[in-house]
Amino acid sequence: MKPEVRRAAEILKRGGLVAFPTETVYGLGADASNAKAVARLYAVKGRPADHPVILHFASQEIAFYFSREIPQAARTLAERFWPGPLTLILKRSAKAADFVTGGQDSVGLRVPAHPVARELLQAFGGGVAAPSANKFGLVSPTTAAHVREDLGGEVDMVLEGGASEIGIESTIVDFSSAVPALLRPGFISKAEIEKILNLKIQDERQSAIRHPGGLERHYAPRTPVRLVATHALDKEISSSKAKLAVLAFSRPDERVDYWLRMPRDASGYAQRLYAALRELDSAGCEAILIEAPPEAPEWAAVRDRLSRACNR
Ligand code: TXA
Ligand code: MG
Repeated sequence: MKPEVRRAAEILKRGGLVAFPTETVYGLGADASNAKAVARLYAVKGRPADHPVILHFASQEIAFYFSREIPQAARTLAERFWPGPLTLILKRSAKAADFVTGGQDSVGLRVPAHPVARELLQAFGGGVAAPSANKFGLVSPTTAAHVREDLGGEVDMVLEGGASEIGIESTIVDFSSAVPALLRPGFISKAEIEKILNLKIQDERQSAIRHPGGLERHYAPRTPVRLVATHALDKEISSSKAKLAVLAFSRPDERVDYWLRMPRDASGYAQRLYAALRELDSAGCEAILIEAPPEAPEWAAVRDRLSRACNR
C-alpha cells in the first residue's frame, strides 16, 4: 500500500478529514461512525446538518450492513455496477446514524471504483461519509488541485488521484420507498437501469425526498450562467454588452473574450465539464454562455448539471 494512503486511513481513524479521488468527482471523507468528524465535515463544506450524505465502502458486503432491507432490484444493480458510479438509497440499519442520514430513515451507499479510493476504503475498513469536496452549492472538484483551491487549509489531507474519469456525480437510485426513483441522473443512464431491472423507475422530480442535488441551484459557478440554443448563439454574442466567456461545440468566435470548445460526445463532455466551468468562472468575465447540448437521452446527466448551474 502507498504510504500516503496508509496515512490517510490513519487520519480518518483519528476523526480527521481526507479528500480523496473517485471516478466521478473528488469526495471529502470522514469516518461515518464518528459524530464529531462528520460535524466538522459539514462545517467545512458549509452544508446544512439535515442534509444526508453518501457513505462509501470497499465492498458491497460491508455497504449492505448499513441497510435493513435490500430489495432484489437493488442487489441486481449493486452486482452489476459496484464498484462504480452508482449510489443506492436504501432503508437504513442501526449502523447508519442520524448524523449521516440527516435524520431520515434511509441511507445513501456507494462502492467507488477509483483505485486510490478502493485502497483507502480497504485500509480504513468501515464506512466513509463523503460529499463532493467543494463548498455547498458550488462546482464539484474533479482534480486534487480543485480541492486545494476550494478547501485547501481546512482539510487534513488531500489524496492525489489524477483527473476523475467520469467527471460528474454518481447516478442515485432510491429504493427506500415503494417505487424505485432516479434521484440524480449520471453516467449510468436511466434507460440502462430500466433495461437491467426490466421495470420502470420514477423520475426524480416526482420524488419528495430531500436531497441537495435536488435543489434548483447547485453545481453553480459564481459568474452568471445562461444556456443558449445553437441557432441563437451568434445573435446572443453580437447583442451582448457584457464581457463574455463561452462554452461551445464550435470553433472560437473572435468577438468573445474567453472561449472553450467542448467534445461532441456526452461522456467526453461530462468528463471535462466541471474543470471547464471553473476555468470560465475564473476568466474575469461578466457572463458565461453555454451552448445547449443535444436533447438525446445520453445527454440527460449533462443537461441536468447545466440547468442547475444556470439557476440563481
Ligand atoms: O459521485 C458522487 O456521488 C460523489 C462522490 C464523492 O462519491 N458524492 C456526491 O455527494 O456527489 P454529495 O453529498 O455532493 O451528493 C450526494 C447526494 C445528495 O443529493 C444527497 O442528498 C443524496 O445524495 N443523498 C444521500 N443520502 C440520501 C438519502 N438517504 N436520501 C436521499 N438522498 C440522499
Ligand atoms: Mg455535491
